[in-house]
Amino acid sequence: MLFLILWRLDLVFNSVNLRRQNSKDLENMNIEVVILAAGKGSRMYSASSKVLQKLAGISLLSRVVKTAQSVGARKPIVVTGYQAKQVEKHLHSENISFVKQKEQLGTAHAVSVAVPKLKTNSKVVILYGDVPCIEVETIKVLISKVSSDTIGLLTVNIDSPEGYGRIVRDRNNSVQEIVEQKDASPDQLRINEVNTGVIALTDTQLKSLLPKINNQNAQKEYYLTDIIKLARSSGLAVKTVSPSQLIEVQGVNDKKQLSNLERSYQLIQAQNLMDSGTTIADPNRFDQRGTLSAGADCFIDINCIFEGENVLGSEVHIESNCLIIDSKIADGARIKANSIIEKSHVHENTTIGPYARLRPDTKVMPNAKVGNFVEIKNSMIGDGSKVNHLAYVGDAILERDVNIGAGTITCNYDGTSKHKTSIGANVFIGSNSTLVAPVHIKDGAFVGAGSTITTDVPNNCLGIGRSKQKNIENWQRPKT
Ligand code: UD1
Ligand code: CA
Repeated sequence: MLFLILWRLDLVFNSVNLRRQNSKDLENMNIEVVILAAGKGSRMYSASSKVLQKLAGISLLSRVVKTAQSVGARKPIVVTGYQAKQVEKHLHSENISFVKQKEQLGTAHAVSVAVPKLKTNSKVVILYGDVPCIEVETIKVLISKVSSDTIGLLTVNIDSPEGYGRIVRDRNNSVQEIVEQKDASPDQLRINEVNTGVIALTDTQLKSLLPKINNQNAQKEYYLTDIIKLARSSGLAVKTVSPSQLIEVQGVNDKKQLSNLERSYQLIQAQNLMDSGTTIADPNRFDQRGTLSAGADCFIDINCIFEGENVLGSEVHIESNCLIIDSKIADGARIKANSIIEKSHVHENTTIGPYARLRPDTKVMPNAKVGNFVEIKNSMIGDGSKVNHLAYVGDAILERDVNIGAGTITCNYDGTSKHKTSIGANVFIGSNSTLVAPVHIKDGAFVGAGSTITTDVPNNCLGIGRSKQKNIENWQRPKT
């Protein structure tokens, strides 16, 4: 009896150990991601590869590569073909392996080209260069389904499944095979569960099943999808996972699909911002091409574009049609309509625009004002200073409480080099002045309207550089 109990206990321990060992091994497996990007994308009618088209400012392929890296793929393997050189150059990263598929003989053939690059003892995920919105979490869940006797398949139910491979399940609801649209029977065409193309399995499974795939089908292509049927007949199970949003598996084949995906993507970004408290006048007229963070109570009017990395403080108010690139805009700033701000830092409680252009390396200090038709480049506008109308300020430092009159120009370029203008605190520059750099207008100075200033103006002086007015009496108007 005791012997029997001990023997049973031993069995239990053994199986627990085995399971531990198995799950430990699986946890320790490398993650490899293969990204198929060899196709031309004929329906784009573009000279460049389809995967280089941009979604929200970033190429479709770069998005997928970044996702693959976030999933834990040490070096994603990108299968290139059409415009291979251009694609490699575009990614120019050391952390990518490229393999070239010379002829596009089908998705299974594309994967087989990548096989020699796969590390042994790995879980392999197949992604697509033209399906850019797949989420890291979805892929992780898919990977978690992979074991030595199971492969993972990402499927989705859609109302109009035209064009997709259909998922055929047996009586027990287990996936049996994938049938491509062109090979499907009328009954199969009515199936709404479709193949997203995304699949995860071990390198051992992939290496044993891939060579068994042939091209006996309507398109005479080596279909990766055939791997499902082969897996089933080798005794493997197929576990399916679905994405949390449809956008994750939407592919891009033409410009219409690209723009639809762009709008869906932008809507999601707008909703995320609204969820964290930003007011957006119309989420359908909002574009974020990069990252954007916003503090409390910001307002963004219609048709604003945010490119690169932008940070808004709280209570920032942005009027319509502004383009904001890689900039920081602090609390309480108001950006009036049709302004462009690039690589600049706009401090608290400032007003910019309408129709202002801040070029790179501009700092607008607290409470300052930059008005309409003003261009500023590589300059600092000091605390409380005003450049309200029609001016060009380049390579200049303005201290606090400066007033720059309408039509003022800093002549920073002599045809060869750039020179600096510095303007001290409380300086007043009369309208239509020309400040020829390098020049220093010191604290409290005053420049008469219409001056051309070529030498420094000392503290609290009036600088006037214009011809003296003559009044000619009894002036006769020209006769016609
Ligand atoms: C594929 C799936 C289909 C699925 C659909 C989802 C196959 C056979 N079919 O169909 O079940 O519903 O995706 O979008 O897999 N590619 C290469 N080399 C090749 C062939 C393709 O790199 O030789 C790349 C393409 O550039 C493309 C991707 O693989 O990015 C998919 O190929 P495509 O021919 O468009 O397959 P679908 O007909 O969309
Ligand atoms: Ca496709």
